[in-house]
Amino acid sequence: MSLILGIETSCDETAAAVVERGRVIRSNVIASQFDLHEPYGGVVPEIAGRAHLERLAPVIEQALTEAGIDLEDIHAVAVGNRPGLIGSLLIGVSAAQALAWRLDVPLLGIDHVLAHLYAPVMRLPTDVSDEHAPDGPYPALGLVVSGGHTTLYLAHDPLNVDILGRTIDDAAGEAFDKAAVMLGLPFPGGPNLDALARTATQTVDPPLPRGLLRPDTLNCTFSGLKTSLLYRVRGHPVGRGKEARFTRDHHDLSPDQRAALARGFQEAVVDTLIAKLESAIAMPHTEGRAPKSILTGGGVVANSLLRSELERLGGRVGLPVHIPPSALCVDNAAMIAGMAWHRLRRGERDALDLPAVATSSLTQSRAPRPSVRH
Ligand code: KG4
Ligand code: ZN
Repeated sequence: MSLILGIETSCDETAAAVVERGRVIRSNVIASQFDLHEPYGGVVPEIAGRAHLERLAPVIEQALTEAGIDLEDIHAVAVGNRPGLIGSLLIGVSAAQALAWRLDVPLLGIDHVLAHLYAPVMRLPTDVSDEHAPDGPYPALGLVVSGGHTTLYLAHDPLNVDILGRTIDDAAGEAFDKAAVMLGLPFPGGPNLDALARTATQTVDPPLPRGLLRPDTLNCTFSGLKTSLLYRVRGHPVGRGKEARFTRDHHDLSPDQRAALARGFQEAVVDTLIAKLESAIAMPHTEGRAPKSILTGGGVVANSLLRSELERLGGRVGLPVHIPPSALCVDNAAMIAGMAWHRLRRGERDALDLPAVATSSLTQSRAPRPSVRH
C-alpha cells in the first residue's frame, strides 16, 4: 500500500504526482495557468476550471510515465478536496473519484492547507512513519503562508494540528499580489515583487507599518500595510467617498522608488511573520508539547527574504526550520499524495461521494487562547 497518486486542482495549478510511502517523490508534475490569467491580472475561476478539465488527464499520464508505473500499480488515489475555488476543486475530485472506482482502490480527500504544512516533512531524512520518533520533527510550530491562508499552527503529527493564530484580513500572498498591482507589476504578483525588491539599493523611510496587533494574540493583519503602500504610491486621495481621486500612480515613481517600496513592503510582511513565530516560540508550552522544529509551507515561503529570515530565526532560537524547496512551496500534488499515506496507514479512506468543499477543515481554533510572554 505504498504508491499513491495525488491530484491537485484547487486554484490555478493543475498537478499530479506519484509518491511512495509518504515521502519518496517518484514524479511531481505541475501545469501552471499563469499565461491564461495574466491578461486579467488575477485568477479567473471560470477559466481555471476549464483549463483543469483540459489539462488534468495529460498531467496524470505524465506523472505516471515519469514515475515509471502504470495506472494499475497505484494503491490509492488522493485529491486536494478543500479549500479552494469550487469549480476547480470539482474537476480534481471528480477525476479522483472515477479513478478510485475504476481501479477499486481507496480514495482519500486531503486538506490543501495541511498538505502545505506536510511538504517540508517530505524532505527530511527521518522516516516519519513513527511521528513521535525522538529525531522526528513533531511536535512542531507550523507556518502556512499562501494566497489564501496565513496561519500559525501547533502540529502534533501530520494529521493533527491546532491553530494558534492567523491573519484577520488578507492572506500574505493576497497582499503581495495586490501590492504588485499597485506597483504596476505583472501577474503573478508575489514572485515579481520579490524580484523587484532584490534590485533595490535602499528601503523606504519611514518604514511601512508592521501589522502586529496586540502582543497577547498570535493573529496578524496586512490590510493596513496594503493601504499604507497605496498612499505611498498614489498619494492621499483628494475628495471624499465616491468623489475621492488619486492624483498620481506608479508611473510617477522612479525605478529606484518602486524598487524601494517593493523592498519596504516585503520587509514589513516578513517582519510580521517572523515576529509572530517568535511570539509562538516564547509562548509557554505544556510538558512534552514544546515544539522541536518549525515547519513552513505555502507559495509565499518561496519568497527569498522570508526564506533567509526563517533560517536566521532558527539559528537565534535554536530550532531546526524546515523550508521546502520552491517546487514544494507552490501548489503541487506531491504534498497531497504524501499526506494521504498517513491517513491510509491509519486505515482511513473516504467514500466515493467525497465532496469538494470551498473552506478548510480547520476554520476554528482548537487550541486554548495563547498567553504570550513578552
Ligand atoms: O500556495 P500557493 O501556490 O497557492 C495557494 O494555496 O494560495 O500560493 C500562491 C501565493 C500567491 O499569492 C503568490 O503571489 C505567492 O504565493 N508567491 C510569492 C512568491 N512566490 C509565490 N509571494 C512572495 N514571494 C514569492 N517569491
Ligand atoms: Zn496552496
